[in-house]
Amino acid sequence: MKKEIVVSGIRSTGYLHLGNYFGAIQNYVKMQEDHDCYFFVADYHSLTTHPDPKDLKTNVYRVVAENIACGIDVNKAALYAQSDVPEIPELYLMLNMLAYKGELEKVPTFKDKVRQQPENVNAGLLTYPVLMAADILIHRAAKVPVGKDQEQHLEMARNFAQRFNKRYGELFPEPEVFRYNRDTVKIMSLDGEGKMSKSENVNATIFLSDDDATIRKKIMKAKTDAGPAEPNSEMPEYIKNLFVLMQMVSAPDVTATYTSAYNNCNIRYGDMKKQLAEDMAAFVAPIREKAAALQKDEVLIKKILRQGAEKARASAGKTISEARRLIGISYY
Ligand code: TRP
Repeated sequence: MKKEIVVSGIRSTGYLHLGNYFGAIQNYVKMQEDHDCYFFVADYHSLTTHPDPKDLKTNVYRVVAENIACGIDVNKAALYAQSDVPEIPELYLMLNMLAYKGELEKVPTFKDKVRQQPENVNAGLLTYPVLMAADILIHRAAKVPVGKDQEQHLEMARNFAQRFNKRYGELFPEPEVFRYNRDTVKIMSLDGEGKMSKSENVNATIFLSDDDATIRKKIMKAKTDAGPAEPNSEMPEYIKNLFVLMQMVSAPDVTATYTSAYNNCNIRYGDMKKQLAEDMAAFVAPIREKAAALQKDEVLIKKILRQGAEKARASAGKTISEARRLIGISYY
C-alpha cells in the first residue's frame, strides 16, 4: 500500500532544545517508520530576516546534524535543504498568482512581524504562507505535523490547493494537520515562564548542545517552592514540568519514588533536581556528541544533503510538470 506523504519544515535558526525534541522530533522519528516523510531545513524562509551570509551553511549543517543525532534516518525519510529544490520556488510563484494581498495581510504571524520589525516588512514576509504552501503541496502531502501557531498557515495551504484545483484541474490533496495519537507534551521553561524557546529564556531552556555542567546548572536553578502543604495536592505547572522531564529521562521507579514523596508532602526538590540533572545529562550527552561529530564531517553532511535533494526533487519534479501542464505552460 502506498504510504501517506508527510512534509515538515524545520527552522534553520537557533539550536534545538528539549521542547523541540519531545514536542516534534520524537514524533518525526516515529512517523518515518510508516509514512513517506519529507523533512527539510527551511533556509529560504530564513531569508525574510536577512541573515548574515556567513551563517547559512553553519545553520543548515547544524540542523541536519542535530536531526540525525535525534534519530532521523535518511534512508527512511528525505532530509534536504529547501533551497536545493528549485521546484519549490517555481510552485511558490504559481501559487502567488492565486494568493490575495488582503488575505495575506490578515495573517496573525504577519501582523506580529509588522509590529516587531516595522523597518523590514518585505514581500517575502507577506507571502511566507505561500512559500510554506509550496513546501507542502510540492510533494502533494496529506499530513503536516505542525504546532498550533502554524495551523492557520496550513489552512491557507488548503485554500491555495483548492483554488488551484478548481481553476486548473485536480492536482493537490488538501493537507491536514498531523495529530499524534497521544497528546504531545509541552515542555515548559525551567523558570515557569512559558515554553522552552530558542530565543527567549535561554537560561531556562535546555539545548541538545548544552554540556553536562550547563545542564546541571540550569536544572538546579529550576523554579520550585516550599513543597505541597497537603497530601495529594495538585502540582503547580513548574513542578509538573520537572516531573514531565523526569518521566522522559529517568527510570520509572525513580519518578514513582518522587511522585509519592510529593503526594506524601515529604519531597525534597533539591534531591529531585540533582537526580533529574544527572539523568538529563546522561540523556543529552550522546545526542550532543553525535551531532557535534556529524556537523564536523563535511563530506558526510554534503552526501546527506545531496541524497535528500535527489529524493525530494524526484517527487517535486512530477508535481511541477503536472502543474505546468495544467496551467498551460507546455510549448514544445
Ligand atoms: N513555518 C514553520 C515554522 O515556523 C516552518 C515551515 C516552513 C514548515 N515550511 C513548512 C512547517 C512546511 C511545516 C510544513 O515552524
